[in-house]
Amino acid sequence: MKWIFLFFAVVSSQLWAQTPPKLEIQLDGQVIAGPVNLASLPVLDVEAYSAPLKTSEGYRGFSFLEMARIAIPQDLARVLEIQLQSENGYSVYYPMEMFQKTQALMAFTRKDGGPFVRYSGLQKQLITLAPYYLVWNARALSPNEQAIYNHIYKIKTVNFITRAVNLGVNLQEVDANIQLGQRTYKQFCLSCHALQSEGGKVSINFLENKTIALKGRDYFVKYALDPAKVNPRTAMPELPQFKNREGMAQAVVDFLLFMEKPEAFYKDKKITPLQERYKKLTRMLQEARAKAKP
Ligand code: HEC
Repeated sequence: MKWIFLFFAVVSSQLWAQTPPKLEIQLDGQVIAGPVNLASLPVLDVEAYSAPLKTSEGYRGFSFLEMARIAIPQDLARVLEIQLQSENGYSVYYPMEMFQKTQALMAFTRKDGGPFVRYSGLQKQLITLAPYYLVWNARALSPNEQAIYNHIYKIKTVNFITRAVNLGVNLQEVDANIQLGQRTYKQFCLSCHALQSEGGKVSINFLENKTIALKGRDYFVKYALDPAKVNPRTAMPELPQFKNREGMAQAVVDFLLFMEKPEAFYKDKKITPLQERYKKLTRMLQEARAKAKP
């Protein structure tokens, strides 16, 4: 299923033979004002090695970073994360440095002009990649990063994010287990299972469906670790083979329980949420000021 990209080469900086398709570009979820002339970007070609097919495929596109430079020149330095949204409801978050490290390319056609498709190991079939397919040099990544971040196709929107997506969790206020659950969820589940206003809509929202309450912790953990065992017709990838994958799946359940009822968590841990602490502090300050008045 892994695609390793062997080399990148600039073919020409002439005009495109084919105009790049439309790409929606957002900054913190707002469509940016003004048109971005994608056809002004240099044409790049890449040879991508497909492990399942043992062949190389040539794609053509533009550099992700070059696109970012012309799209949001003033704001690029503030970008923390990039969310890519696909036509099929998939939505994934990548740290900004992944694009720098891997020389990511936004491909929109094949070099040989053939059908813009790829073999999917998970779906065991050819899939259409248009309008955009993200290809990058996977060799620039550690094996761990390769397990976490994969290639996304059918991209229609790029959202540059300058604030961290925290899914309603203040990481300073929760324990290490909820933090692990939040991180695991964001990296491995959010792309298909939306939460609040974030994420993809390939499958259900666990909070809206009350999945944990209705189906139980064990079912949920088993599904995350080995979906094919629970549902032979599953379209869901399993949690990658990390040493602590069982702990990660358990932490996802704790994180979802926390999301359902944060008050219960704070009560058990005797923690006051930040906003309330702030309110209390403001009240104390006002009282102190009132007292200090002659
Ligand atoms: C690529 C998309 C995708 C990702 C990523 C994904 N899922 Fe799923 N998930 C699905 C789909 C589609 C279904 C519906 C049934 C099926 O195909 O297995 C599903 C179903 C489920 C179910 C069963 C729900 C029910 O009501 O029976 C659970 C539990 C689940 N996912 C947990 C997770 C967890 C936890 C993660 C992250 C570790 C995750 N999923 C990541 C696509 C995904």
